[in-house]
Amino acid sequence: MHSDQHPAPNADTGKPAQSKKSEKKTSQKTSAIPLPRTRKNTNNKQSDRPDLHTGGPLLDTFARVADDLRLSVTDRCNLRCMYCMPADGLPWLPRTELLTYEEATRLTALFVQLGVRTIRVTGGEPLVRHNLHILIAQLNAITPRPELALTTNAVLLEEQADKLAEAGLDRVNVSLDSLQQDRFIRITRSDNLEKVLRGIRAAKAAGLTPVKVNCVVMRGMNADEVPAFARMAQEEGCIVRFIEYMPLDADGQWKEKAVFTAEEILDSLEKAGHDVVALSSEGPHPASRFLVDGEGQIGIIPSVTRPFCSTCNRLRITAEGGLRTCLFALEETNLRDPLRAGSNDAELEALIRAAVWKKWAGHNIGMPDFVKPNKSMSQIGG
Ligand code: 5AD
Ligand code: SF4
Repeated sequence: MHSDQHPAPNADTGKPAQSKKSEKKTSQKTSAIPLPRTRKNTNNKQSDRPDLHTGGPLLDTFARVADDLRLSVTDRCNLRCMYCMPADGLPWLPRTELLTYEEATRLTALFVQLGVRTIRVTGGEPLVRHNLHILIAQLNAITPRPELALTTNAVLLEEQADKLAEAGLDRVNVSLDSLQQDRFIRITRSDNLEKVLRGIRAAKAAGLTPVKVNCVVMRGMNADEVPAFARMAQEEGCIVRFIEYMPLDADGQWKEKAVFTAEEILDSLEKAGHDVVALSSEGPHPASRFLVDGEGQIGIIPSVTRPFCSTCNRLRITAEGGLRTCLFALEETNLRDPLRAGSNDAELEALIRAAVWKKWAGHNIGMPDFVKPNKSMSQIGG
């Protein structure tokens, strides 16, 4: 994929929020923005790869540098989102399988030595892991200090926001797919909308900003709420990011026709009478950014119709210490067992470099050769 397919990648720069005034506006109207519906199959052929790269940043054979690490701290969750978990939950990992906070910090510090600059703590739901602020404080002490973000469903955020901010957390992304109570209940199978909204306010009050709200848009489920979420961005000062629905649900219910596409999201905003203008930005970020009615900032993450694989800078560590180089990876590199067996940093570094080097070109969702990973989002780590 070429960079011109990313007219306005997102503002996930890890820097403090820019004020609205300083946002660089392009004069481009959304109707002029290319959001192609179709794309070519990504060539994952790896037979002609050169030898493993050693030293310097974490590089793969497609010349991408990995500098963003998602660290999952649990596979458990206090919600049961229909696009992620079955109603009865999943078999949880036993505690002994999870990385301890010390192990997670040791691995993270090594990744930082290897050039990682942003750490996003994920789950499952990270706030259900006891005393998460203690891990945040440990990550905050790593030098050079990485940017520290957290993805949460916000059910427990109101009670933890201050502690997390004091421990050094910089910002939060909150997953929220409906602003209507009955729908929230249908999607998450729990009655927690009010708690989530209070969690968002608490995060803002604690300075965990910019607060980003992630909304997975599903046809026939919540797609008609896109304009309401855009208004939320205006009124609450959050950055709302609309995410195309991906095949990562444990139930295997995903259907391509349930994906409400980036293009449809933009169309629905314009049909609702909103003025939508593209914002420019740089960096390897998946969201195209827009300003709605001159003040609300939104992002659209077209993971299915316009994947950002060619500029992907992400790595993931699962709660049990498996390194995954793609959300849709079919294999994992176990870092926990060598760590527990006493490997030194150089040995772990060799394992990490070899895994990153083998990172594939892309995931090919919707193509005949796409293979769904046998893990759900909660088991991989958002
Ligand atoms: N498709 C798209 N996004 C998903 N998420 C979880 N499952 C899916 C899916 N199947 C989102 C969550 C969260 C982020 C980590 O990933 O809503 O915001
Ligand atoms: Fe929990 Fe997030 Fe999965 Fe919802 S999407 S069940 S909040 S892990």
